[in-house]
Amino acid sequence: MGILQELNYYLKSQSTSIPRYVVEQSIMTLLGGLPSLVGVGLRGIAYKVILQADGLPIIEHNVRLLCPANIKLGKQVYLDSQVYLHALPGGITIGEGTNLMHGTIFHVFNYRGLPQAGIFVGKNCFFGEYTCIRGQGGVHIGDGVYTGTQVQIAAVNHVYSDPDKYIKDQGITAEGITIEDDVWLASNVVVVDGVTIGKGSVVGAGAVVNKNLPPYSVAVGIPARVIKDRRNADAVRKATAAQVHYGALEDMRNKSE
Ligand SMILES: CC(C)(COP(=O)(O)OP(=O)(O)OC[C@H]1O[C@@H](n2cnc3c(N)ncnc32)[C@H](O)[C@@H]1OP(=O)(O)O)[C@@H](O)C(=O)NCCC(=O)NCCS
Repeated sequence: MGILQELNYYLKSQSTSIPRYVVEQSIMTLLGGLPSLVGVGLRGIAYKVILQADGLPIIEHNVRLLCPANIKLGKQVYLDSQVYLHALPGGITIGEGTNLMHGTIFHVFNYRGLPQAGIFVGKNCFFGEYTCIRGQGGVHIGDGVYTGTQVQIAAVNHVYSDPDKYIKDQGITAEGITIEDDVWLASNVVVVDGVTIGKGSVVGAGAVVNKNLPPYSVAVGIPARVIKDRRNADAVRKATAAQVHYGALEDMRNKSE
């Protein structure tokens, strides 16, 4: 590959056009590393020039945004520091009130221009530290979904049928992943391509989900197996006063005012 082709490939991974690249890099260089409320405030205003946002997005310092023109943020989306959003064609859409905690990665690695690619997240979701989503096949996440730390959602597989060729050169398959409303994926869960996780499901720590889970499943293990149905009161983890701190985050915020 010649140097000009290399440069072109690099720029396409960074931005949707050269003029946009210049504007984006200028704004992010000036403001990207600025800590404190001042940094948050200035980025909330200035980043609206480079990405699509309803209201003022809350963006901590050292957030990495590639192709920000393809990023859409709903009201009061929170991006913690070291979040990395790479929005190649298909883009990234994040609904109102959703939080991405430290080190979360949303990666639409769509150099092939797959029409189904993209990451689409509903309202009031929470992604724990170092959660990583790859969206080549399209990842569709509903409202109120919660992930623990280091959850992996990978809507892509490598073809490996030819043993005489590097796997990396054999292409990919990318079917897509759907995670419906009110799902909790506990720490270190892996969700592989082609899977739908039904509304209201719980997936235990460390599970690998490689088959669809019906709504309200509690599933654990590798591969993830349904062990109970959340709607069955006897089967559900009991909330006792000794063990449980009740309340939504919003309630706690209100109390601290
Ligand atoms: C999935 C989980 C919620 C289940 O809780 P629960 O409803 O109280 O279920 P129980 O503890 O009664 O376990 C039921 C069975 O599943 C097994 N099991 C529970 N969690 C498991 C897990 N993560 N992996 C494998 N097996 C698991 C138990 O050993 C038990 O098996 P048994 O009946 O043969 O003894 C819980 O075990 C878990 O994984 N929590 C995640 C913790 C976490 O990541 N917290 C970070 C906050 S996001």
